[in-house]
Amino acid sequence: YAGPVINPQSLTSYLALPRCLIAVDSNGNILWIDPDVDNTNLPLAIAHHGVQAYTLVQLKPGEFIMPGLVDTHIHACQFPNLGVGGDLQLLDWLTTYTFPAESKFKDLDYAERVYTDVVERVIASGTTTCCYYGSIHRDATMRLADIVRKKGQRAFVGKCNMNWHCPDYYVEKSVEESISATVDLIRYVQSFPLSPAQEPLVHPVITPRFAISCTPDLLAELGDLAESMPQIAIQTHISENQKEVDDTLRFFNADSYAGIYDKFKLLRHNTILAHGVWLTEKEMDLIAERGAGLSHCPTSNFYLNSGMARVGLLLDHGVKVGLGSDVSGGYNPSILHAIQMASVASKMLAIQSESKKCNCEREHEHSDISSDSAEVEQHLKHKEGRFANKRLGVATLLYLATKGGAEVCCLQDRIGSFEPGKAFDALLVSVRSESGNPAMWSFDLEREPSPESKLQQWLERFLFCGDNRNINKVIVQGTVIGGQEYQA
Ligand code: GUN
Ligand code: FE
Repeated sequence: YAGPVINPQSLTSYLALPRCLIAVDSNGNILWIDPDVDNTNLPLAIAHHGVQAYTLVQLKPGEFIMPGLVDTHIHACQFPNLGVGGDLQLLDWLTTYTFPAESKFKDLDYAERVYTDVVERVIASGTTTCCYYGSIHRDATMRLADIVRKKGQRAFVGKCNMNWHCPDYYVEKSVEESISATVDLIRYVQSFPLSPAQEPLVHPVITPRFAISCTPDLLAELGDLAESMPQIAIQTHISENQKEVDDTLRFFNADSYAGIYDKFKLLRHNTILAHGVWLTEKEMDLIAERGAGLSHCPTSNFYLNSGMARVGLLLDHGVKVGLGSDVSGGYNPSILHAIQMASVASKMLAIQSESKKCNCEREHEHSDISSDSAEVEQHLKHKEGRFANKRLGVATLLYLATKGGAEVCCLQDRIGSFEPGKAFDALLVSVRSESGNPAMWSFDLEREPSPESKLQQWLERFLFCGDNRNINKVIVQGTVIGGQEYQA
């Protein structure tokens, strides 16, 4: 692949390489990367690396390559509800809209039809790695895993465990039934053939819906199961909504939500926790200590009126963070939209903190009450963190959507950025005005002073205005599996 490449590096930096050459081997792994080649003589540049037989993909003007997007939290069985229910809060939304919709997946033909459509849509939106929740149904979730495998996406697929505080029509009847269905799904997914790179592309994931929906004995059994399979990931929800937090602490007679998962051995390096809007700093420390990751789902946090996760503070506490669409708590399956909402949420937190500080300082000037100064101190202290109460910039947003997501999935050695030996999971993006997206005015950017700053602007424009129309190829493990130019 020859052309402009965006390569995430750290939470605060990425490389914009206008004349890059990436070599991918026949197994879909990256062989080498030449960051700056003479693109007037590519055959010579390639020969320099000792490669004889190859197919060259040369990018057209207005195109660039970046790592594929990682969605660390999505409910495949909630797509039929997209854009419905945003007037409610979490617990009422679950009983009014979500449980009825998920219960339909008992019907395998329905599941097959919906899941085929879901996986195609998720791929078309540029998600190369995806953490899916299915319904409680074993067989329907096996179908979801089959479809993901056939379409070639990298993914985690889990069957929801729920036997507590659920309606009669949508509940697992016993702990034994819930555990044996979970084990069946794990074994089934583990039986899939390996990728050309001799590794699984689809992974099973243990999926207790959230603490409220699992009795303590079910959580205990799931913890034992997880302990016996240390490499299997775990996904669940945490501290999304204030009423949910109150109910959870009451039902479990606990004082820490994260502490409940920890007590049941469900908080570890490969646990993916969605939301975390109302986590305390003590909980953030525990999560960081266990090495678990957080899926930031800002679209959903706004839509279901949950609040704004303190992503900067989580990063300062050393928690791994990725992004999640959380369909259908989130109304948009694209991680680009999650990036935009993550930016808005961080700006709102930054503005709020700044104005609180200004108000404190102003009031302090006109008063001699010493507690005011303590409050100013408090705000100043928070400002001292590297990320807390600060706007998340383009580099950070890009990181969360790629490398951060990879870390949350414990796939940081395989995906998230371009390095020799990693899988080539990538997007070929077009910011040309012919994409059909009315926000693209590529010629405008031709005035940029350097090719590098032009490429940086292409990236920002794609992240904030881009959509499926700007994604020409979606590539997983070196194979094109979707995008505008894809033909099945
Ligand atoms: N908490 C428990 N279940 C769900 C769900 O389906 N969506 C969201 N957003 N939060 C949950
Ligand atoms: Fe969710």
